Amino acid sequence: YRDRELLTVTDYECAAIQALSDADYGHYSGGADDEVTLGENTRAFNDYMIRSHCLRDVASLSTSTSFLTHSLSHPIGVAPTAFHGLAHEQGELATVRGARAASSLMISSSWATTSLEDMKKEAGENPMWMQLFVYTDRELTQSIVRRAEAAGYSALVLTVDYPARGNRLADKRNGFELPEHLKSTTLPVIVKGVLRADDALEALRCGVKGIIVSNHGGRQLDSAPASIHALREVVEAVHEGKHRLFRVPVWMDGGIRNGRDIFKALAMGATGVFVGRPVIWGLAAHGECGVAHVLNILKEELEQTMKLAGCPTIESIRAANDIVVHKTFY
Ligand code: FNR
Repeated sequence: YRDRELLTVTDYECAAIQALSDADYGHYSGGADDEVTLGENTRAFNDYMIRSHCLRDVASLSTSTSFLTHSLSHPIGVAPTAFHGLAHEQGELATVRGARAASSLMISSSWATTSLEDMKKEAGENPMWMQLFVYTDRELTQSIVRRAEAAGYSALVLTVDYPARGNRLADKRNGFELPEHLKSTTLPVIVKGVLRADDALEALRCGVKGIIVSNHGGRQLDSAPASIHALREVVEAVHEGKHRLFRVPVWMDGGIRNGRDIFKALAMGATGVFVGRPVIWGLAAHGECGVAHVLNILKEELEQTMKLAGCPTIESIRAANDIVVHKTFY
C-alpha cells in the first residue's frame, strides 16, 4: 500500500484512530494501570545512541537472518495480539496475508477471532508459530498443541506473563516449569514474557529453544522495565558466562516503532524483534495491504539505519563493537 500520508508507523496509528471506535482504539493502544511501562517501552529506545561507522562499504545491503530453522529476509516478526476481528472485517486472515506479503514470521494469538487452521492455511509457506497461555487444563493444552502440529505451525510460544491477576508473576519468579504436557510435543517451545536473567536461565534448564523478552506491551505488570532495558540482562545471561553452551536465540518485543529501534535491539543481542500494535494500526487502516506496508516501512527504515550506521548485514550489527551505547556514554 502506498500513500503519501502514510510514511511511518505513527502515521498509521493516526489513520487507525480514524478507522476505529474510541473503545476499540483504547483496547489496542492501552496499557495496564498508570501506563508507566507502556510509555517506557517506546521512550527507553531513546536512552541509546547509535555510534555509526563511516568508511564502510554498504553498497550491497542484506537484512537476511534466521529464526530457528527458518531463513528469513528480515528480522521483523508479528507478535501475537488478540481479536483482529475488531480491527478489520477480515480479521486475522488479513493480518496473515499482510505478513506473508512482507515475508514476516507471524505468531498467532490464542485469542484469535479465526481458527488456527484457517490462519495457517492462509499463510501457505510463510512460517507461523502458535502462541499458548499456561492452561492448567492439560487436555485443552494438548488438543491445541496437536492441532497446531497438524496445521503446520513450526513452534509453540508459551506466554508466561499472563494471567498476572493477583500474584501470578510472583509465582513465576519463584521458579516456573514448563507444563509437563508441553513436553509431549515435537515442536520447539519458546517462552515469551521473560524480563530477568534468572528466569531466562530457568527457562533454559526447562529446555526451551528460544526466549522472547517482553512485558506484554505494558499490559500486564505496570512498572515492569522497558523491554529494551531487560533485553541486555537476558542476553548477557543466555549468551555469556557458563550458560553460553546452551545458548538459544533471544528475541524482544515492546515499543518498537521504527527501524532505529530494531537496529538497537539487534545491536544489543536480539536475534530479531516482534511488533504488536504497529501491525494492528496497519490492519485497521488498510487491511492486509496496511499490514504489509507497516512491516515494509519498518524493514526499509532498518535498511536505512544500517546504511547510515555502516553495517551492511545483520551479523555486522551484532559484531560491531559498541555500535549502540547508553546516552550517558556521551
Ligand atoms: C497483546 N499481546 C498478547 N500477547 C500474547 O502472548 N497473547 C495475546 O493474545 C496478546 N494479545 C495482545 C493484544 C493486544 C491488543 C496487544 C497490544 C498486545 C502482547 C503482544 O504479543 C506483544 O508482547 C506486545 O504487543 C508488544 O508491544 P508493542 O509492539 O505493541 O509495543
